[in-house]
Amino acid sequence: MAWGRGVMRRIGQVVKPLVIRHHRHSGAVLFSDTTLRDGEQMPGATLEPDDKLRIALALEELGVHSLDAGFPASSEQDAAAIRKMVGVVKRPVLTALCRTVRSDIDAAEAALDGQPKHKRGVSLFVGTSPLHRQYKLQKSEAEILSLIAESVGYAASRFDIVAFSPEDASRTELPFLCRCYQTAIEAGATTIGFPDTVGCLTPEKARDSLRAIQDGVPAIERALVAVHFHNDLGLAVANTLACIAEGAHVVQCTINGIGERAGNASLEEVAMALKLHPDQYGRTMRIDTTKLVPLCRLVAELTGCPLPLNKPVAGETVFATEAGIHQDGLLKHPDTYLPFRPELVGGGPIRLILGRHSGRRAVAHRLEQLGLSADEVSVGHILDQLKLAPKGTLVDDATVQSWSRSRKSA
Ligand code: KIV
Ligand code: ZN
Repeated sequence: MAWGRGVMRRIGQVVKPLVIRHHRHSGAVLFSDTTLRDGEQMPGATLEPDDKLRIALALEELGVHSLDAGFPASSEQDAAAIRKMVGVVKRPVLTALCRTVRSDIDAAEAALDGQPKHKRGVSLFVGTSPLHRQYKLQKSEAEILSLIAESVGYAASRFDIVAFSPEDASRTELPFLCRCYQTAIEAGATTIGFPDTVGCLTPEKARDSLRAIQDGVPAIERALVAVHFHNDLGLAVANTLACIAEGAHVVQCTINGIGERAGNASLEEVAMALKLHPDQYGRTMRIDTTKLVPLCRLVAELTGCPLPLNKPVAGETVFATEAGIHQDGLLKHPDTYLPFRPELVGGGPIRLILGRHSGRRAVAHRLEQLGLSADEVSVGHILDQLKLAPKGTLVDDATVQSWSRSRKSA
């Protein structure tokens, strides 16, 4: 016999605090990916529902804890993309973005229909800063608090997983911010978010804000704390890491750091910093870093937002060097001039590019690889050609072979 809604709700009420307690004490950093929502807000990055499904499945393989899958009330395509993920994307929690209005929560419920209860949730937001209250919403503090209580309560009657974020939190007065969080938790929020909506914080201020929230919200033990940084000062990753050190449980990131304006904290960069410095953060994560580069390339291809050549982790030149001293070092031992091996992120191979700055050892290595003579004179000849070659010359294998032939025929 099917259990009634009331019984299920009571079971949910018992299980929810246990799940939160588990996540709070597990020591794991939970990655919440927002490539498909905030990432897609980047001008031109629009994704079709099928593309979103491909990325969502790749994010599942990567090991993210949850997926900010879209904003169903904002467009039919967002709702359609979420419907495609339902029942197919199984391991991460699928969340839908909602304003603090019932119709958005209803739209999220419809889009997520069929997804198991413990794998679906809503993420509510409302502007809380003085700028948002006065100019955007024309609402008083009291009105904002009652909006939060009403909408979070409504969401909690339909979803076991309810996140609440005060938009522009980093520019909201701290005492009011804490009251917003307290209200949301009392109404049933299971996660409270700290979005630096305009990306204005520094790592020190981000850390201090998080500490102040943890100290200033009495019911904080009943929820997970999530952080969401924009990159307007190029500090989104640093801010995210500062908050991890301060005890944030969930980090919201995007692949390639795409997102509104200057983008969001890049998931691949945060994950690699955690991977390389377990001693510093003392936290675990479930991200399979060997899946990062293929996913970064997939997102670049499907969004049409190309990866900068020097993009940390996934850019084309991050495992390539033209400099003689570095080439010599890499040939002696790859770790001399790399923070991590390409295999760790599913990238590579290491490439020694021949150019004006290259040295004897890299040239000799290339000649040997091509089965050509690598004696002093042959190497010297190629080095001379490299110095003379005009900017932009592509020094590929064919070029090296033809230079080598030109010496012999001279
Ligand atoms: O940056 C932001 O404030 C957001 C909200 C929707 C949480 O993306
Ligand atoms: Zn954002």
